[in-house]
Amino acid sequence: MNLILNTAAARRYADPVVLDEAKQRAQQVFRDLMTQDKTSKSWPSTGWLDCKEAACELDVIREKAKEIRENADVFVLVGVGGSNQAARAMIEAMKKPGGPKIVYAGNSLSAHAVQTVLDEIEGKSVYINVIAKNFETLEPGSHFRVLRNAMQKRYSAEEMAKRVVLTGTRGSRLEEIAKENGYTFLSFPERVGGRYSAFTPVCLLPIAVAGLDVEEYLAGGLSAQEHLLEQDGGEAAEYAALRWALYEKGFKVEMLSAFEPRLYWAQSWWKQLFGESEGKDKKGILPVSMTNSEDLHSMGQYMQDGLRFMMETFLMVDDPEASVVIRPDPEFDDRFDYLDGMDFANINRAAEKATIEAHDMGGVPCIQLRLPRISERSYGQLYYFFMISCALSGALLGVDAFDQEGVEEYKRSMFRALGKPAAK
Ligand code: PA5
Repeated sequence: MNLILNTAAARRYADPVVLDEAKQRAQQVFRDLMTQDKTSKSWPSTGWLDCKEAACELDVIREKAKEIRENADVFVLVGVGGSNQAARAMIEAMKKPGGPKIVYAGNSLSAHAVQTVLDEIEGKSVYINVIAKNFETLEPGSHFRVLRNAMQKRYSAEEMAKRVVLTGTRGSRLEEIAKENGYTFLSFPERVGGRYSAFTPVCLLPIAVAGLDVEEYLAGGLSAQEHLLEQDGGEAAEYAALRWALYEKGFKVEMLSAFEPRLYWAQSWWKQLFGESEGKDKKGILPVSMTNSEDLHSMGQYMQDGLRFMMETFLMVDDPEASVVIRPDPEFDDRFDYLDGMDFANINRAAEKATIEAHDMGGVPCIQLRLPRISERSYGQLYYFFMISCALSGALLGVDAFDQEGVEEYKRSMFRALGKPAAK
């Protein structure tokens, strides 16, 4: 695994006995998870632990993605939460040339947002992928209706069959719809919950449509899986244990900070993973994020000098993948001559280092997590590392990291408000 976790500075804030005990517990949970009997009912949502098991239907995905890349102007990814975040985080961070424009739908109830998507597809060759585990969620369900109606005005039933891909649980209404209409159906594995679906067709088809290297991505996930197995939970057990030990010391919020704006959607994915997995039974670390340097000019003040209840994890990238040197401009006298000859890549790195030092001095436990570069392989490792860490962290907190009763409650309340008939 090429991710590097540095916990040295943050460990100073934790009780060493609590930390040591938590690490042993985390490692035990890791062993239990990895050696579980898959047929047992005690871990119903852990089909993602083995990347190879999660990554099913690869041949159909490759073939369909090729067709979409060749024929579509616009590809609409319809899904919300775990049904779109992992793919979006990769697509937005690693834009590749060629292929269709990728548009996101089914992730809000804003009329304006829906209209914007309808405007985007107007007059264009459009393909859609509707992703919904049980096809009950309001946002993707309602957007699918509207998009389907718009497409049916232009395309015959045969043409619709080529252009609509549905990803859902086998046996769900979505699969029936696929069968009734001849749409391609991809499976959302039964034993994988939304926010843990990064290695399943939920993420694989959209990233393949975006031209990302699926093999490299899966190789990344698998290398993290093998590494953590060899290391008895390794960095994931360390990170989970440290979060717990800091939580015990009163650090109830974790800020995920990045100095690379392209990581914005990865931070969003991370917030969903930890927030929805841990925020239960009046417990849990609140996950929040900052995109720097911009947010240093807003949240930076609080991080440096506000209430001390936050730990901070810096998501760092070694390879800037660009070099922009500031040339001298003596005629202008803008008083920025001290930057002459400097590369933005180095300025950004210096700002990151300075921020870590300042926040550490200000009483914030700072963890560093480094990626060599933003790539399919790194994202495979990052997702696997965080998903395992989250499962271990949930166990240390004593919550079920795989359910989301709070979200289900809000869904039920919204259905009541909209007059949805009770299930028969
Ligand atoms: O992680 C989860 O389970 C949730 O965030 C779901 O992904 C989200 O609520 C969307 O659910 P569905 O795919 O059933 O529409």
